[in-house]
Amino acid sequence: MTVKTKEKTLEIIVEEMVNVVENSKDEIFHISEEARSEYEQLSRELEDTKVKVIQYIEDGDKLEQRVAYSRQRLSEVSKYFDRYGEDEIREIYEGTHELQTRLAMLRKEESILRQRRDDLERRLLSLDHTIKRAEGLASKITVILTYLTDDFKQVNEMIEEAKEKQEFGLKIIEAQEEERKRISREIHDGPAQMLANILLRSELVDRTFREGSTTEALDEIKNVRKMVRSSLYEVRRIIYDLRPMALDDLGLIPTIKKYIATTAEYNNVKIEFTPIGSDERLNQKYEIAFFRLAQEAIQNAIKHAEASKIQVKLEINKRHLTMVIKDDGKGFNPNVKRDKSFGIIGMRERVEMFDGIMKLDSAPGKGTKIVIQVPYEVY
Ligand SMILES: Nc1ncnc2c1ncn2[C@@H]1O[C@H](COP(=O)(O)OP(=O)(O)OP(=O)(O)O)[C@@H](O)[C@H]1O
Ligand SMILES: [Mg+2]
Repeated sequence: MTVKTKEKTLEIIVEEMVNVVENSKDEIFHISEEARSEYEQLSRELEDTKVKVIQYIEDGDKLEQRVAYSRQRLSEVSKYFDRYGEDEIREIYEGTHELQTRLAMLRKEESILRQRRDDLERRLLSLDHTIKRAEGLASKITVILTYLTDDFKQVNEMIEEAKEKQEFGLKIIEAQEEERKRISREIHDGPAQMLANILLRSELVDRTFREGSTTEALDEIKNVRKMVRSSLYEVRRIIYDLRPMALDDLGLIPTIKKYIATTAEYNNVKIEFTPIGSDERLNQKYEIAFFRLAQEAIQNAIKHAEASKIQVKLEINKRHLTMVIKDDGKGFNPNVKRDKSFGIIGMRERVEMFDGIMKLDSAPGKGTKIVIQVPYEVY
């Protein structure tokens, strides 16, 4: 599966998951809303029931008093039954009986109401639990949704980044091949051709000398010497481009110094170099990196900026390696991406490999300034 399709599949999966989770959230919301409305309804019913229970208790108490009174009357009447008529006695008896029956019913209804009240209270408690659990669940689901929407986006960004790195890697390989081609052409057009020329000329010297014309032969030798010198310069330049041996032998500062001297002379441009702080040898990786960084920045200033002055500062202190490369040339817009340009991207990659930072400041007409800082412990 390619990175692109992987990314797409992942997107679809995440989208589906988001849908499912969102539906569940809606459902939970629904459940909690239903529970809430039932809770409200039952609360109202509970209030009513409580009021009724009190009412029943009060009514019952009153009735009880009346029953007590009525029974007292009845016992009085029964004691002195000779004083009362039969009808009167029956009436009191029946009245008492009716009151007693009503009281019993009232007490029965009161007990049913009490039971209902207790049931309602229990049900409300359990509904309260349900509501709280639904709320807890809803907030957990919100967290999941944030994970899926925000955090997964980051995963996608990481995949995107990995894809860019992969493409960049391929471009670097291409660029390396391009570079090999350029070097072989340079050797072919420069030193190789000059050596062929020198060979021809030296044969000419040989002939001239043998024909007796010493002065002409000496003149010709001067020419040959000039050509040897310039071939030597070319070969040295190419070697420098590939990898200056001085870097291993002498270290960073002398190599940059030498590189700058040759480059300034060859391109007829003023380049200032200011090393600050310690001048001890650094770890080889750092020496190579900083030489390449300086080389690329200087080459850019020469190739693109038409600068009249380039300044390079290198500071080595206890914690950092800092380099500033500044030119007074025509500047450029660093936000414009160039397809076939790897110099600046490569510089950035190198600096990041060492956990450093690189700031590029440039604008058309304003010159260019690059500041690089990399953490480095000098022991
Ligand atoms: N110091 C500078 N002054 C003006 N323009 C610059 C400078 N440095 C870079 N540029 C511009 O930025 C572009 C990108 O530079 P970069 O070094 O990345 O690539 P390049 O020099 O074109 O090619 P490469 O370095 O891969 O051989 C250049 O083509 C140039 O237009
Ligand atoms: Mg470049």
